Amino acid sequence: MKKNRICELFGIETPIIQGGMVWCSGWRLASAVSNAGGLGLLGAGSMHPETLIEHIRKMNLATDKPWGINIPLMYPEIGRLMDIIVGEGVKIVFTSAGSPKKYTNMLHEAGIKVAHVVSSSKFAKKCEEAGVDAVVAEGFEAGGHNGREETTTMTLIPQVRQATTLPLIAAGGIGSGAAMLAAEALGAEGVQIGTLFALAKESSASDAFKTMCTSLQEGDTMLCLKKISPTRLVKNQLYTRIAEAEEKGADAEELREILGKAASKRGIFEGDTDGGEIEIGQIASQIKTIDSVDDIMARLKKEYEETKYILTR
Ligand SMILES: Cc1cc2nc3c(=O)[nH]c(=O)nc-3n(C[C@H](O)[C@H](O)[C@H](O)COP(=O)(O)O)c2cc1C
Repeated sequence: MKKNRICELFGIETPIIQGGMVWCSGWRLASAVSNAGGLGLLGAGSMHPETLIEHIRKMNLATDKPWGINIPLMYPEIGRLMDIIVGEGVKIVFTSAGSPKKYTNMLHEAGIKVAHVVSSSKFAKKCEEAGVDAVVAEGFEAGGHNGREETTTMTLIPQVRQATTLPLIAAGGIGSGAAMLAAEALGAEGVQIGTLFALAKESSASDAFKTMCTSLQEGDTMLCLKKISPTRLVKNQLYTRIAEAEEKGADAEELREILGKAASKRGIFEGDTDGGEIEIGQIASQIKTIDSVDDIMARLKKEYEETKYILTR
C-alpha cells in the first residue's frame, strides 16, 4: 500500500497495523511490527496497570519508531490506565468496546492521536462526531470480540467509507497481500491485522495456542456468547459446553459460570486448549506456519505488489 493519510497520521512507512490483542501483543510483538515499518499496538486489555508501565518502558527501549496502545474501554481500571498513558507520554491510542465520546477529548488534549474500532457504519459516524482521528472497521471474520450484527468485512468497509470521511482502516479476515489490496479497493486506507500476528513467533501467546490455531480448518471457529459479549472461539471443549448451554437458552449468568475465571488467559496464554477460550479469526485456517514478524511483513508487502501487478497489467 502506498503512503497515505494513515501513514501520515501515525508517522509510519506502511499502513499495516498490528491489532492490540489480549495475551498476545506485548512489547516483543508490537516493537517488531513497528520496527518493520507498520504500527505495533500493545494490548492493554490483559495488563494490570503496573504491567502496562513495564511494557511501555520496554517499548521505548525496543523501538524508536511510532507505536501505540489498544485499550478496550470496558477495562475495569480504565481511569488508571488513561493516567498512565498520558503520564508516560504515549502518542497513539486505539480504543475499542465502548463509546468513543468518553476519552477522545481528554486524549487529544494530551496530544495523543486516537483511533476507535467499530463494527457498523452507525458507530463509525459516532466516531466522526466524537472527533477521533481514524476509524477501524472490523468485520465478523475477526478474532476476539466481535460485532453482534455479524457484518462481514466485505460488506462493512464500503458502507463505513460512505458514512464518514475519516481515515479508514479495515480489519477482519486480512491475512495476505491480496486481502490488503481487496480492502483498499473497498475504500480502506490501511489494514489492522490480528490473527496473523497472534500466531507470529514474537506473540506472547502460548505454543499450544499457536499450534492449535495453525492446524485449524475452515469452519473451526464460531461466534458465540452474544448474551455477554460476542466472541469468536475455536470449537474446543469449552466452546461445545457454551454452545450446548446457549442452545438450551442459558442466560448471561449461567454462561459466565461455564466460562469460569480468566478464560482467555487460560486458553491463549497458559495453553489450556480444551478448557480455555481460544480466540482467533476465521483466517487462521489459511495460516499453517509460525513465522517471524519480519517475514510476515515482507510477505504481505510482496504479495500486495505482485497481486496489484497481475491485476493491472
Ligand atoms: C487473540 C486475540 C485477542 C484480541 N484482543 C483484542 C483486544 O484486546 N482489543 C481489541 O480491540 N481487539 C482485540 N482483538 C481484535 C484484533 O485487534 C483485530 O482487530 C482483529 O484480530 C482483526 O481481525 P483478524 O483476526 O481477522 O486479523 C483480538 C484478536 C485476537 C485474535
